[in-house]
Amino acid sequence: MSNTLSLLLCIMICSIGVLELVSSDVKTNRLVIPIDQHDIIRIGRSKQLCDIIINSIRVSLLHCMIWSVKFDKDTPALVYIKDMALNGTTVNGEMLGKGTTRVLENLDTIEIQSLVQIVWKRLDELEIDLGLALDIDMDIDRRLFSHVAKVLDWTITNTIVGSGSYGTIYVGHNSRYSTLFAVKVIRNYSSDARKRIIHESQLLTKICHPNIIKVHDTHVRGSHLYIMEDLICGGDLFSYLSNGTKLRTLPESETIFIIYQLLQALDYLHNHLNVLHRDIKLDNVLLDLPVPGSRVYLCDFGTAKQLSSTLQRTRTVVGTAEYLAPEIFNSIESTCSGYNNKCDMWALGVMLCIMLSGISPFARDDHHTNHMLLIDGFAHISKQSKNFVKRLLYFDIRKRMSVTDCLKHVWITGNEKRLASKYSKVCQVRKK
Ligand SMILES: Nc1ncnc2c1ncn2[C@@H]1O[C@H](COP(=O)(O)OP(=O)(O)O)[C@@H](O)[C@H]1O
Ligand SMILES: [Mg+2]
Repeated sequence: MSNTLSLLLCIMICSIGVLELVSSDVKTNRLVIPIDQHDIIRIGRSKQLCDIIINSIRVSLLHCMIWSVKFDKDTPALVYIKDMALNGTTVNGEMLGKGTTRVLENLDTIEIQSLVQIVWKRLDELEIDLGLALDIDMDIDRRLFSHVAKVLDWTITNTIVGSGSYGTIYVGHNSRYSTLFAVKVIRNYSSDARKRIIHESQLLTKICHPNIIKVHDTHVRGSHLYIMEDLICGGDLFSYLSNGTKLRTLPESETIFIIYQLLQALDYLHNHLNVLHRDIKLDNVLLDLPVPGSRVYLCDFGTAKQLSSTLQRTRTVVGTAEYLAPEIFNSIESTCSGYNNKCDMWALGVMLCIMLSGISPFARDDHHTNHMLLIDGFAHISKQSKNFVKRLLYFDIRKRMSVTDCLKHVWITGNEKRLASKYSKVCQVRKK
């Protein structure tokens, strides 16, 4: 098939763009490769590992990876490249370096060992007139990377990685570092919110854990708050599970590794810092890469609270309805005794239920749903995992598992060896 014809076909079937081989001194297997939402393309010498195979000893088995992450339908997908090779990958003539990730912009040229040149051509932003689209030589999204704000030595670009009820998260950088950052911008917060936010930023800078987003700096400018954190490039768990209008399920072996990592984060928060997160949900869990076995990070400490003693309870109604523990609803009544860190365990149970079944047990705000029946109906998952979910969704907080109970549950202990070995591997590989 001619280059132009295959490109034309790609345009018709793909929503984000194409990687197009523009020159090659060696044999490769593909000329044009489409990138769709949440695709991951591996480039290198290995026939087993790679989608674009470059047949030269100068190229690593897995040389670099390119993937896309789409936050939602209104936010343009981000396309990332990660260099995996000792002898490097260049983008527009600039060496990335092993372990470095950057955002690809339209018409960026990737070069591998001066052997192969691949151009990233973005199509989702074009008003699709196929005749026009073929003449892709337009500067369609240079605007994506123009900067919108400078805060001290931080530059905030207008490339959006996500947004929530409190803030919008942009790609940012700092002249002192080669890596990209995420900058959460909370605009026009009220004086009421101000106290909470200052408290949050103080709390965040204290937190240091492999499965919790690392915050580097916070700044208040007028009525805006800026939180500078590590940019986690695999998107959040909600996007990872999104499958059109539905959420897909994950295999149990993949799910348990995510839960295991979140338990490490919650153990640190509950048992070491006495902090309640209060908004555990799919949207607030980030992935290094949108692939099974990725390292995950808990983010969004906007509603977190540090208690002064383990016995202390709190009453404020915060969080997301679908994940809200019954005792938080009940805390509206002043006669009620409030709630403690078990609210995070309930939310973890809801999340786990969604990952295993694709069903959100309380999505219709119905706390009377018989979730036991619902969970028992899943034929494809183990008895231990069903028991684990049930024991997180006990209405009675005295019976509901704590993070320590979870770590001793047979679902975890029975898989501990494998989980611990995977865990030590993924936690070593981040950001060099
Ligand atoms: N550090 C980060 N790196 C990459 N994506 C992020 C990061 N922080 C947040 N996001 C994305 O942005 C979304 C909103 O961020 P979040 O901090 O949860 O804001 P909010 O408090 O408004 O809910 C998240 O669901 C996630 O998809
Ligand atoms: Mg959030």
